[in-house]
Amino acid sequence: MKNYNIAVIGGDGTGPEVVREAIKVLDVAAKKFDLKLNYTDYDFGGERYLRTKEVLPDSAATELRKFPAILLGAIGHPDVKPGILEKGILLRLRFEMEQYINLRPVKLYDERFCPLKDKKPEHIDFVVVRENNEGLYTGSGGFVFKGTPNEVAVQESINTRRGVERCLRYAFDYTRRRHKENKLTLCGKTNVLTYAFDLWERTFHEVGAKDYPDITRDYAHVDATTMWFVKNPEWFDVIVTDNMFGDIITDLGAMIQGGMGIAAGGNINPQGTSMFEPIGGSAPKYTGKNVINPLAAICAGQMLLDFLGETEAAKAIEDAVISTVRNHLKSLAAGKMGYGTKEVGDLVAQTLADAKTVPAKAPAKKKK
Ligand code: IPM
Ligand code: MN
Repeated sequence: MKNYNIAVIGGDGTGPEVVREAIKVLDVAAKKFDLKLNYTDYDFGGERYLRTKEVLPDSAATELRKFPAILLGAIGHPDVKPGILEKGILLRLRFEMEQYINLRPVKLYDERFCPLKDKKPEHIDFVVVRENNEGLYTGSGGFVFKGTPNEVAVQESINTRRGVERCLRYAFDYTRRRHKENKLTLCGKTNVLTYAFDLWERTFHEVGAKDYPDITRDYAHVDATTMWFVKNPEWFDVIVTDNMFGDIITDLGAMIQGGMGIAAGGNINPQGTSMFEPIGGSAPKYTGKNVINPLAAICAGQMLLDFLGETEAAKAIEDAVISTVRNHLKSLAAGKMGYGTKEVGDLVAQTLADAKTVPAKAPAKKKK
């Protein structure tokens, strides 16, 4: 039996209640696929900060690095000034654990929940590979003459050859593994950001031509990308982009796949500890009301198992989510699903428990 230690950060707002449902489903998957999942809880988040005035203990990343994976609910508290927890917990963990990829699949499970006219599941199925450690997110910059009429604010986008190249290589490898259209689109702004995206574009073609000749290289400006998400989402297979553009386009991506209730992502360190989360935030107004959609957190759990190499168990969770969405839910939005948070978790858990699983095929023996 395979044994995995998983750190759990429920976090703020509705984070803990959606994480509870994700664990409910993970436990069913574990039973079915003969895995042992051991959870360790961490109380990082707004409540802890308000109580102790410490955003994140310095030992947090060191401690968390012992785990192969982390399941995160949400970070963000209405009584804490915006930025403190986001930068102090979420971004700090992403950086300190070198989770240099933010992997965000955009997949429509049911056309009823797509806001785009005539778009069906076969039209919306792509993945955004967002650089997760650099760009505008590093905190580089500063003020000059702050508070005076001459005030200057500078916020710099940091793009290193090493950081850009490792992100691109991950995206190329991912495109190859996914094996759908074998097409990778670089999303940038080469017509204006002539330094940052010059580096991205040169590295993209250099690495692609040398090591990934089987992958078609495509390019789209970020503004055009948002247009195509709405007009022709079927054009995309895998998209690779910088941190800020990735942040923006994946919110739009979430909307076309059915909303924040279903959108999950993984902060990935391919050689280290990765952290999986619903991308929707803490939704404080829904806290404790049993109305928030837990599917995004459940899908984060699915991505976590996939990262651990438990691809069959992950696939089974996804199938159970799809079946629940198609057969039971009235909506993917909080309070409108036709079921409560816990009941949606129960539906997925039950569907998964009832599903016939095809045992893994033994590798075919070569005939002599
Ligand atoms: C996300 C969020 C974060 C980001 C915020 C909360 C710092 O919007 O995960 O997309 O900008 O990366
Ligand atoms: Mn975001």
